[in-house]
Amino acid sequence: MTTIGLIGAGHIGSQLARLAVKNGHDVVLSNSRGPDTLAALVQELGPRARAATALEAARAGEIVVVTIPLKNIGSVPVEPLAGKVVIDTNNYYPQRDGRIPALEDESTTTAELLQSHLPRSKVVKAFNHIYAAELTTHGQAPGTPNRRALVIAGDDEAAKATVTQLLDQFGFDTVDAGPLKEGWRIQRDTPGYGPRRTASELRQDLAAAKRYRDQ
Ligand SMILES: NC(=O)c1ccc[n+]([C@@H]2O[C@H](COP(=O)([O-])OP(=O)(O)OC[C@H]3O[C@@H](n4cnc5c(N)ncnc54)[C@H](OP(=O)(O)O)[C@@H]3O)[C@@H](O)[C@H]2O)c1
Repeated sequence: MTTIGLIGAGHIGSQLARLAVKNGHDVVLSNSRGPDTLAALVQELGPRARAATALEAARAGEIVVVTIPLKNIGSVPVEPLAGKVVIDTNNYYPQRDGRIPALEDESTTTAELLQSHLPRSKVVKAFNHIYAAELTTHGQAPGTPNRRALVIAGDDEAAKATVTQLLDQFGFDTVDAGPLKEGWRIQRDTPGYGPRRTASELRQDLAAAKRYRDQ
């Protein structure tokens, strides 16, 4: 049993909280408006859940998920996340996030931006290419034929092993895309972004991914 901190409790954060609680973890949820606004979700989740500020969620979580609009990652608390596994679900949508030159020219990736904001954390990209609703409907037991797979990317092997274990518990196989800088292979408008894919299909999708300039 792990305490999972959630910075962001919207479509993805609330769904990951449901999966975490279902699998016996404690969750500390936070959003931008304050813990009071999360009362209904906490009530739904039951005694394993509580709402807090983002700072408190960052402090309390052994694993912390950052699942907020990308434009806001600069506000994610840094010190309490030092040394921790931080899961990054975020994607870049210029119409929502504003134009970010380093993502436009693909000199970096969304997760590398979070990693540079959190230099002492172990950032792992995960859950960025599945629709929120499917998180609680597409999971299957380990070993199920044609089980859905999700991509991870990260620079710390132990952190990736931790996230792989969590994914397995939540109902999904894992495909490791490699280091964070390879995360572009599962960004918006790549073949693997969105559809239900098995591990072997997803590996093909990653190999077939094209940079924006080549699409
Ligand atoms: N929706 C999907 O199916 C999906 C799938 C994969 C990945 N993603 C990506 O995952 C991220 C989250 O997506 P979402 O759909 O869950 O977004 P969402 O439904 O809009 O929820 C965003 C959450 O982040 C909170 N938030 C915003 N700024 C914050 C801050 N500075 N500190 C703490 N919390 C903050 C919001 O709180 P308030 O409501 O109080 O403002 C809200 O709880 C995005 O980058 C998105 O592109 C989404």
